[in-house]
Amino acid sequence: MRIASALLSFAAISQTFGQNHEQDQAALQLETPNKHNNSHLKLTHDLIGLHANLTSLESITGNEEGVGEWLVGSLTSQGYHVEKQYVDQKAGRFNIVAWPGKKQLDVQVLLTSHIDTVPPFYPYKHSKDPAESDNSTLSGRGSVDAKASVAAQIIALNNLMSSSKISPDSIALLYVVGEETGGDGMRAANALHLKPRTIIFGEPTEGKLASGHKGNLGLVLTAKGKAAHSGYPWLGRSANEVLVTALSALMSLGETLPSSEKYGVTTLNIGKIQGGVAANVISQDANATIAVRIASGTPAFIRDEITKTIHHAIRPFLQDGKLTHQDVIEISFTSAGYGPVAIDHDVPDFESMTVNYGTDIPNFNQTAEGQKRYLYGPGSILVAHSDHEMLSEEELRGAVGDYEKIILHAVGK
Ligand SMILES: *[C@@H]1O[C@H](CO)[C@@H](O)[C@H](O)[C@H]1NC(C)=O
Ligand SMILES: *[C@@H]1O[C@H](CO)[C@@H](O)[C@H](O)[C@H]1NC(C)=O
Ligand SMILES: *[C@@H]1O[C@H](CO)[C@@H](O)[C@H](O)[C@H]1NC(C)=O
Ligand SMILES: *[C@@H]1O[C@H](CO)[C@@H](O)[C@H](O)[C@H]1NC(C)=O
Ligand SMILES: *[C@@H]1O[C@H](CO)[C@@H](O)[C@H](O)[C@H]1NC(C)=O
Repeated sequence: MRIASALLSFAAISQTFGQNHEQDQAALQLETPNKHNNSHLKLTHDLIGLHANLTSLESITGNEEGVGEWLVGSLTSQGYHVEKQYVDQKAGRFNIVAWPGKKQLDVQVLLTSHIDTVPPFYPYKHSKDPAESDNSTLSGRGSVDAKASVAAQIIALNNLMSSSKISPDSIALLYVVGEETGGDGMRAANALHLKPRTIIFGEPTEGKLASGHKGNLGLVLTAKGKAAHSGYPWLGRSANEVLVTALSALMSLGETLPSSEKYGVTTLNIGKIQGGVAANVISQDANATIAVRIASGTPAFIRDEITKTIHHAIRPFLQDGKLTHQDVIEISFTSAGYGPVAIDHDVPDFESMTVNYGTDIPNFNQTAEGQKRYLYGPGSILVAHSDHEMLSEEELRGAVGDYEKIILHAVGK
């Protein structure tokens, strides 16, 4: 009876507002059997609108304030209890924690993702395909990575609460800054001492459950030369030559680093090289930035291999022991790094896959015995950092249903 009257009034409103029923559905509070007390919540179900609003706001790492404030406002107006955790107060950078029910640290489920994006910004676009009225593409920076996950998680949770399938007290949301540049947001979030039984991380996995991802190690090589006229090279030492020698040895090392059946080969990317000032000057400074994606073994092992290889390669520059390795090249690891990360993927009816990118998973300290971690999100990583980042409406809608399944699995239903 209750449901019938709710449907009737919904039909009436849809008629009045015609095409805009999706937005109006947002404002409509469906009556539900009073199993859980949801009376303080005014939940939105407007997936496309929520995704559009998030993606329209530029939030390149370091500049997350605007989208953060918007999300705080949206969740607050929906009745969530929302808190900011500042990661960098001066820059206005904060993580967002939100509880639809009572605030507690040991929730059953934590939904999390990140609100920063890589550069540059591309504006949001919704391209309607006239032949396929309910399927169109959503593009723009962050449309996949990871605002599709943020929007789909929130709508999935709202759906489950509106239909009284879960209690608002069982779940919390955590949206962090800084994922794209090393995870300062998630590392700061450890100080919140959240102790969820299950954490669901949102990153593009093509609608599959990730069973693991490669490890990561970053380093910078800084070669130190001695400037001189290029006509008299014996008076100087070329930092460029030192660097090229070291990099060449690393390229050969890359092929011999450990591999595994699950993750394939360890790869080493020389991402950026800078050095020298002019053709007729022996270069004094040169450097290179390198990322290693670890398929097997520990970062400590890889660090040792890299150091040994470089020290061996640059021996000719040490002038028979008059110079030390440090005089010629500095090897600086940008963080401790981490080995491959295994991820739970035991939800029935999902395909699983491994991914080659890093996530915030290793940055979140596991806080409870047997804590489960899932990684799932709509869209493909293959377009995520590109100038054609996009996904279809169908993929985004599919993710809502999938998140609902994962959440229900996590609460034992
Ligand atoms: C539900 O919670 C509201 C306050 O949020 C309270 O006023 C109301 O009495 C509660 N209803 C029931 C049935 O517990
Ligand atoms: C998106 O933003 C518009 C403009 O501020 C607002 O009217 C609409 O309610 C928002 N929708 C959602 C789902 O956030
Ligand atoms: C999280 O783990 C890291 C590395 O083990 C540790 O340095 C840090 O203190 C931990 N943070 C908290 C809040 O426990
Ligand atoms: C590399 O060298 C350039 C030019 O000297 C400098 O601007 C840059 O900061 C250096 N990069 C790193 C990672 O040290
Ligand atoms: C929707 O669009 C996507 C991408 O353009 C496509 O892969 C998918 O098959 C389309 N779905 C339907 C039902 O047409």
